[in-house]
Amino acid sequence: MNRRDFIKASTIAGAGALILPRTALGAKGPNNKLNIALIGVWGRALAHYDVLAEENVVALCDINEKRFPEALKRFPNAKTYVDWRKALDQKDLDAVVICTADHHHAFIANWALNRDLHVYCEKPLAISVEEARIVRANWMKKKTKLATQVGMQRHAIENFNRVKELIRDGAIGNLTDAYAWGNRQIRRAGYLPAQGTPPEGFHFDQWLGPSPDHPYNPDYFSGGPGMNCLQWNMFWDFGAGQVGDMGSHTMDLLWNAVDATLPTSAEAKGEKFNPDVTPVECESHWEHPANDWRGPINVSWYQGGVMPGSPRPYVDLKAIDHGAMFKGSKGFIIANFDTRIVLPVSDSADLTYYKPRTKETLLPPVGHFQRQWINACKNPSLKTACDFEYSGNMIEQMLLGLVAYRVGKKIEYNPATGQVTNSPEANALLSRKYRDGWTLNG
Ligand SMILES: NC(=O)c1ccc[n+]([C@@H]2O[C@H](COP(=O)([O-])OP(=O)(O)OC[C@H]3O[C@@H](n4cnc5c(N)ncnc54)[C@H](O)[C@@H]3O)[C@@H](O)[C@H]2O)c1
Repeated sequence: MNRRDFIKASTIAGAGALILPRTALGAKGPNNKLNIALIGVWGRALAHYDVLAEENVVALCDINEKRFPEALKRFPNAKTYVDWRKALDQKDLDAVVICTADHHHAFIANWALNRDLHVYCEKPLAISVEEARIVRANWMKKKTKLATQVGMQRHAIENFNRVKELIRDGAIGNLTDAYAWGNRQIRRAGYLPAQGTPPEGFHFDQWLGPSPDHPYNPDYFSGGPGMNCLQWNMFWDFGAGQVGDMGSHTMDLLWNAVDATLPTSAEAKGEKFNPDVTPVECESHWEHPANDWRGPINVSWYQGGVMPGSPRPYVDLKAIDHGAMFKGSKGFIIANFDTRIVLPVSDSADLTYYKPRTKETLLPPVGHFQRQWINACKNPSLKTACDFEYSGNMIEQMLLGLVAYRVGKKIEYNPATGQVTNSPEANALLSRKYRDGWTLNG
């Protein structure tokens, strides 16, 4: 329904009482364009500029004022802000794109949902189990009118759906186990010592935001565009290490195929615990209940060079930097982001039970990942691939793995209540403490 048809229909239905919900119109701006606030305007944000330039970017927010002149060249009509809380109060907004450091993501997303704004949030959606649950629950209440997407854009690679089809269509029999891994290793000893003072226009206290106080050190900000996250995301107060970094992309390859929600247990082990820095080497394992097309499954995540066992000695899983493997009653599927191998293994694995799809019955492509969200903001009947339910569940599982790593034992989890039932110590680690003056629900 276009805008004119909608107005006509509303007038008839409402017998003159013309109420126009924002989402039914699509957007507040002229020409059906969205009015967008971009929070964090450099780095990863640059990858969104082309799509955003098709809409109205009306607010730019960054803790580093030095980033504004370049951004304003592309979005000259935007107002600028240093504090995202003030940006979100701009009255003409329809939507928010979040490209800040990870420890602000759940905050900005939740505040934006509270203001009935559509949200695109760079991954990860949250860095604590509690944050993931709160943001997901908030969106679930509003899902018919607000579009959300987490920046796991590899999801649009068609191989994701080809892997899913192979599993759903029985190419490896009954699915029992799924493994994902990533071999990135960035080691740090601890939080950086105080060094120098922030340059003029660089609001370090605002960058710290809800996280505990740490001294300024320019090394946190010495990475290139879109890579600077590798300077801070391994510290517990600023990120979730590989879980929130490449883990978000690689677990997505698995998550898309296994159709899981939340686990009932988590168990993890890794290198010695460092109170400042998330582990490099670590493996996490979760149990997931059966659903309507498969039995219960075990899901695993390996990082920092730790790997699942290879199904056959001639298969070198280590040759895949970021990959996934699925085990079924008749064999394995091994995949990276854009290719896959089927490995039938048992005597009965003759593939007669598997019928490849026709072109017409392939799962539909996601298309352009960022535009999928823009389209859904304008038309609430459209869905996004990585909404806050799908992505919220996925990151909650991953973050629960880090909790299990910290307590060093298998934890039993009640997905309905979000409570660990056999470890008070684990329950205390599901949330994080925020600095005075910061609230997740503002
Ligand atoms: N989807 C992907 O493939 C992908 C790739 C790279 C990074 N990322 C994600 O993008 C985000 C940003 O990563 P980056 O490498 O660009 O980091 P970065 O440190 O360069 O930060 C990006 C910009 O955000 C600003 N910023 C940081 N915190 C802010 C805050 N609280 N308020 C306003 N502005 C703030 C910074 O000053 C900078 O201009 C991270 O969450 C990262 O996980 C995603």
